[in-house]
Amino acid sequence: MNKPRRILVTSALPYANGPIHLGHLVEYIQTDIWVRFQKMRGHECWYVCADDAHGTPIMLRAEQEGLTPEQLIARVWAEHRADFAGFSIGFDNYHTTHSPENRTISALIYTRLRDAGHTAVRSIRQAYDPVKGMFLPDRFIKGTCPRCKTPDQYGDSCESCGATYAPTDLIEPVSALTGVTPELRESEHVFFRLGNFEQVLRGWLERNDLQAGVVNKLQEWFEAGLQDWDISRDAPYFGFEIPGFKDKYFYVWLDAPIGYFASFRHLCDRNGLDFDAFVGADSTAEMYHFIGKDIMYFHTLFWPAMLHGAGFRLPTNVFVHGFLTVEGQKMSKSRGTFVTARTYLDHLNPEYLRYYFAAKLGPAIDDIDLNLEDFQLRVNSDIVGKVVNIASRCAGFITKQFNGQLAATDDEPALLARTREPAESIAQSYEARDYSRAMREIMALADGINQYVDRRKPWVLAKDPAATAELQRVCSTGLRAFRLLMIYLKPVLPTLVGAAEAFLRSAPLRWASLDEAWGADGIEPYAPLITRIDPLKVQAMIDDTKAAAAAAAPAAAAPAATTPAAPAAAPTHITIDDFSRIDLRIARVANAQPVEGADKLVQLELDLGDSRRNVFAGIKSAYEPAALIGRLVVVVANLAPRKMRFGVSEGMVLAASGDGPGIFLLDADTGAAPGMRVK
Ligand code: MSP
Ligand code: ZN
Repeated sequence: MNKPRRILVTSALPYANGPIHLGHLVEYIQTDIWVRFQKMRGHECWYVCADDAHGTPIMLRAEQEGLTPEQLIARVWAEHRADFAGFSIGFDNYHTTHSPENRTISALIYTRLRDAGHTAVRSIRQAYDPVKGMFLPDRFIKGTCPRCKTPDQYGDSCESCGATYAPTDLIEPVSALTGVTPELRESEHVFFRLGNFEQVLRGWLERNDLQAGVVNKLQEWFEAGLQDWDISRDAPYFGFEIPGFKDKYFYVWLDAPIGYFASFRHLCDRNGLDFDAFVGADSTAEMYHFIGKDIMYFHTLFWPAMLHGAGFRLPTNVFVHGFLTVEGQKMSKSRGTFVTARTYLDHLNPEYLRYYFAAKLGPAIDDIDLNLEDFQLRVNSDIVGKVVNIASRCAGFITKQFNGQLAATDDEPALLARTREPAESIAQSYEARDYSRAMREIMALADGINQYVDRRKPWVLAKDPAATAELQRVCSTGLRAFRLLMIYLKPVLPTLVGAAEAFLRSAPLRWASLDEAWGADGIEPYAPLITRIDPLKVQAMIDDTKAAAAAAAPAAAAPAATTPAAPAAAPTHITIDDFSRIDLRIARVANAQPVEGADKLVQLELDLGDSRRNVFAGIKSAYEPAALIGRLVVVVANLAPRKMRFGVSEGMVLAASGDGPGIFLLDADTGAAPGMRVK
């Protein structure tokens, strides 16, 4: 195996004012797979992250919620940690940028830059809200777009025509906080002189194996010329005060990347690791940052320049990924596609998403799409239908007929050799973050193993008393091949493989386990390692997301930290396929009762012929409950169950109503019977 490497890995630090969502998870899952792979290969690899806790949006959000910023970020930190744990993101440390370590290192880096002449102080004029008593970040100023004249646009760009401009260009600007017209006020700001580092950055660009998309961007930026960067903000601000100034704070993006080091320092202090050996100027360790394409400028210009100027090492590489779209579009609350990590976890197994992202992620900066239909097909067919199927086809015979003991010799050693052979190629794919290629290679091997089982037909051998030894050998070979797949898949599916290790009575699998003998201890009885994705649960996840969006306060004063609000959903058509997914049935009202505490609701017990359902229907204003018993109604039978205050509703009764009073049940024709499909 290769020489052990020492590697420090980070993912971008999520803002501490919002929940983790599926878009974020592209990054954390991508990074986690890479880190787990490196650890399995026997390398010393440390994965650190933190909440990005500073800045105006967090300060204002706390104020809105009646909390101190410290209280807000403590709550969000705990939520983020739980979300990440739910998706098996294996950070070695998860810290916060509002930490003593970060305060110390930020001050150190800043004073070194200042003393080496890499900072400058000068006065600038900026929008100021005289009522709120603070300078306004661009996104807190709204007004009419100077180009297309659309009203109510943010101070940095127009969502209607895409123009970018300075907030002073807005027509009739107002403060998004108080609605007053901002004044222009002068104040002193501290700047980082990025231009001093052009040669260093060009050299870094040449020495390193950066992605093509990164190289192109950097070249564009060099051509445009490197501008000074404003690294200070005036009070009130939530952050660290700048040494040597009163009421001036580091801009959140100054101390955010330093938060990588602070988190690592915190880990080193606890584990007795040598901080400088990883981050010092002459470090021989490797350092990688995984980030999304929206924050490249910070990570490929400011950060390496700051590091160099302050006497630290530069990143070995910055790995940039694209954005997640859902059903081909930007994630949207109204469409129900702005799914939070928590809502996903309420309904679905996190390993489904880990596998799906792995199957789609390549090494380039391309966006990736979550298509819910494809998600279900892919996971069901690959993980359930191919991989896990091998174990379930072989294990039963071993348990029932051989008391869990494997044959000492294999039926077809060549199958194992074929499955072992591409290991190095799969490893190279992981190393290069070409996970989609790795998954294709692994699924091709799974196909080969299933073909072997099809050919050797253990279920036929099991009926032949003369073939007992052969049956044991065939199933043992199948299980040994399955174990190799578990090694390959462990970076992606740590929980499933953990369960497989228990089933295989195996020590934790590492890459080196490929060449270790296995099987002398036999196996545990097989229990399903994972089940198919339930489409009702996918729907329930989307429904919950829509419901949460509808319930959220409509007019939040502060905009989100970065991403502009999603445009409103266009009116949509459904296809005939969408329609055919709606299961409309005839049902007989078996019982109907008023619901205490709900004036409009009737609780119905519906007889669908083969099953009974509890449904809450808002038809009380039109029908006396008792009069409904015995009637036939049309019901949506495959609506995801919904938890209501009074109980779970398991369907929906169709009714008609107009502007005036009156609700009319869509009654079934005579001749219809419960359970019939409505077409
Ligand atoms: N706080 C900054 C990062 C500071 S790093 C020193 C930030 N936070 S964020 O919460 O907005 O984003 C965290 C990471 O998630 C970023 O790398 C960002 O690109 C990524 N993503 C956020 N939304 C995403 C998608 N929809 N798709 C893929 N990645 C996305 O930026
Ligand atoms: Zn415009």
